Amino acid sequence: MILVTGGAGFIGSNFVVDWLDCRDEPVVNLDKLTYAGNLQALATLSGNEKHIFVKGDICDGSLVSHLLDKYRPRAVINFAAESHVDRSIHGPGDFIQTNVVGTFHLLESMRAYWNTLTDVERGAFRFLHISTDEVYGSLAPDEAPFTESNRYEPNSPYSASKAASDHLVRAWHHTYGLPVLTTNCSNNYGPYHFPEKLIPLIILNALAGKPLPVYGDGMQVRDWLYVKDHCSAIRCVLESGRVGETYNIGGWNEKTNIEVVRTLCRILDELAPRTDTSSYIQQIQFIADRPGHDRRYAIDAGKLERELGWKPKETFESGIYKTVKWYLTNQEWVNNVISGTYREWVKTQYG
Ligand code: NAD
Ligand code: TYD
Repeated sequence: MILVTGGAGFIGSNFVVDWLDCRDEPVVNLDKLTYAGNLQALATLSGNEKHIFVKGDICDGSLVSHLLDKYRPRAVINFAAESHVDRSIHGPGDFIQTNVVGTFHLLESMRAYWNTLTDVERGAFRFLHISTDEVYGSLAPDEAPFTESNRYEPNSPYSASKAASDHLVRAWHHTYGLPVLTTNCSNNYGPYHFPEKLIPLIILNALAGKPLPVYGDGMQVRDWLYVKDHCSAIRCVLESGRVGETYNIGGWNEKTNIEVVRTLCRILDELAPRTDTSSYIQQIQFIADRPGHDRRYAIDAGKLERELGWKPKETFESGIYKTVKWYLTNQEWVNNVISGTYREWVKTQYG
């Protein structure tokens, strides 16, 4: 049995579904179901007894302790977080609460549980904390990609809250001996990505005939990883990662935002052409930049490959094509997540 937090979100839901596809081990899935959590992403698991969903908050120490005592997991994987940089700029409070205070409560409940285990169980137990490359700050164009020894230099309320949570996880290992692993991953994309983030937002706006908002000059660089590759990397680190270590996960796919947006337009031109047959590229609109916008992220995932033999399977070209196709054939999911709160967010952010 493993316990996953945030397993109704974008990466967590992909992870839970893939896990139960390739493993026989049950999953307890604790998720608060914020605007970003959606049980429809887990619809294929309905009736599957190996998936136990619990609606709840990682800040609720007594609930977490109860779940640990009841299900006695051999591992906990923490996906639960507030994850959108733009939202963290408008309202950082929730980010401090879930990402920092929530991780603290999770660590404390786990420490108490871990101390009740037998020596063998204690040795085998793992807490895997899912984090981001954004904790390392912004790279200059000619700087080498982030390695695990880069200094933490978070610039947004989101990345600062994730950096703080990483430090707590590190401290609970060094001080209390809790067997932890931390992964710092680059930008994910793929099925069930909430349409506030760049790739799904562009696909949906394009199809709706709306402007495609590109911040600033669009020359910011991100490293993109297909979500299923992230899930396989997490399984690999959980199985074979060295306790107390951190592992960077990335797709070796550095792209400028404008390149990503143009690629999406070209794929849509092929798969779902506009009725007037002109390119979706004409819907691109450059808008005011994000405050404090990090210019470049790039991940050196060499440690994970050298030590554990993990490499991504998808190229950006294959993954992005699959993703556009997924959004075209899953309009129902999209329509369901575009709720009133989503519309309010679009109004706040884009006017
Ligand atoms: P997401 O926003 O799609 O999902 C987060 C999930 O956590 C949601 O289901 C939400 O309901 C749940 N949640 C939020 N607060 C909670 C709380 N207090 N208690 C329990 N559940 C709560 O995020 P995501 O993109 O799936 O990201 C998952 C993790 O991966 C996060 O920790 C994020 O920092 C990290 N990460 C994301 C990316 C990316 O590109 N999306 C890249 C690197 C790292
Ligand atoms: P996002 O998907 O929010 O991820 P992150 O900020 O965590 O990297 O954004 C990816 C990049 O796209 C980032 O540089 C900001 C930019 N962006 C836009 O240009 N327009 C948009 O409407 C959004 C949401 C993002």
